[in-house]
Amino acid sequence: MNSFTYVEPAEPQPEIPLAGGDVTEGVVRVGDTVRRPVGPNAPLVHALLGHLEDVGFAGAPRFLGFDAAGREVLTYVPGEVAGRPRPEWLADEGRLASVGRLVRAYDDAVAGFVMPEGVRPDQGFSLPPGMPPEPPYPAEVVGHMDYTPDNIVFRDGVAAALIDFDVAKSVTRVDEVYNAMLYWAPLSDPADADPTLRDVDVPRRCRILADAYDMSDVDRSRLVEVAVLRTRRSWFSMRRLAEERGGGWARMWQEGVGDLIKRREAWLDRNGPSLHAALTAP
Ligand SMILES: Nc1ncnc2c1ncn2[C@@H]1O[C@H](COP(=O)(O)OP(=O)(O)O)[C@@H](O)[C@H]1O
Ligand SMILES: [Mg+2]
Repeated sequence: MNSFTYVEPAEPQPEIPLAGGDVTEGVVRVGDTVRRPVGPNAPLVHALLGHLEDVGFAGAPRFLGFDAAGREVLTYVPGEVAGRPRPEWLADEGRLASVGRLVRAYDDAVAGFVMPEGVRPDQGFSLPPGMPPEPPYPAEVVGHMDYTPDNIVFRDGVAAALIDFDVAKSVTRVDEVYNAMLYWAPLSDPADADPTLRDVDVPRRCRILADAYDMSDVDRSRLVEVAVLRTRRSWFSMRRLAEERGGGWARMWQEGVGDLIKRREAWLDRNGPSLHAALTAP
């Protein structure tokens, strides 16, 4: 036994499957813990969760070690996760603002995180040929970069914690806010949006997120550019993940996520100016 072996309580507890995610098979709750298969980015994620614990950030699970089956053991975060079908409250602007504040609190908490020697982000796929470059701005934080409704735990109607740090990587704060907008504004062709978010005022919701994050003027002015570049890249990365990792990634690709990304790109071309105006208006 080493220090990373999780010591089980004497009384065995049942494994309760946790639904909600798109890709990780076999996420279960056991008592006050969650067990997940170890992903390719686990060394970074575990160091990151340790840092968040050290700085007293309450909005993330704690990493407790590995169980006898080799799974990672995390604390169970009590609260409410959107799930499917999506709840009406996804459109609520108060909840939206609380998401922006939580993303900001996380980015501030992670800002002092130094990647341990030898630990590098590994998203679990090789760079596809033809992948467009990242936005040309230097990374500022190890971002969460997966702010889907299923990865945010609410308590009393307020976004209280983040889960699922599997795709954490070095990015800018603009990337982080873009990623939250992607799911919560949302940045997609309305035909692809969940019914609860189909008729919302997207530029207004982007502004609410940017204000709640307290985004700088420079960052606001870069948001649309970053959204377009990230969207172009995601078509390549999603296809690559489908090819190389299969599973939920392949399923999403078969279900047409590539075409959805292309429609998002076209929608951003049409709506970029109004988004930009909403974000930068005094
Ligand atoms: N630490 C946790 N506390 C509470 N619920 C969790 C926790 N980890 C996962 N869950 C629940 O399990 C679901 C799937 O887990 P997640 O880690 O997001 O996997 P996936 O990679 O498939 O998205 C989440 O949407 C959430 O409902
Ligand atoms: Mg998830």
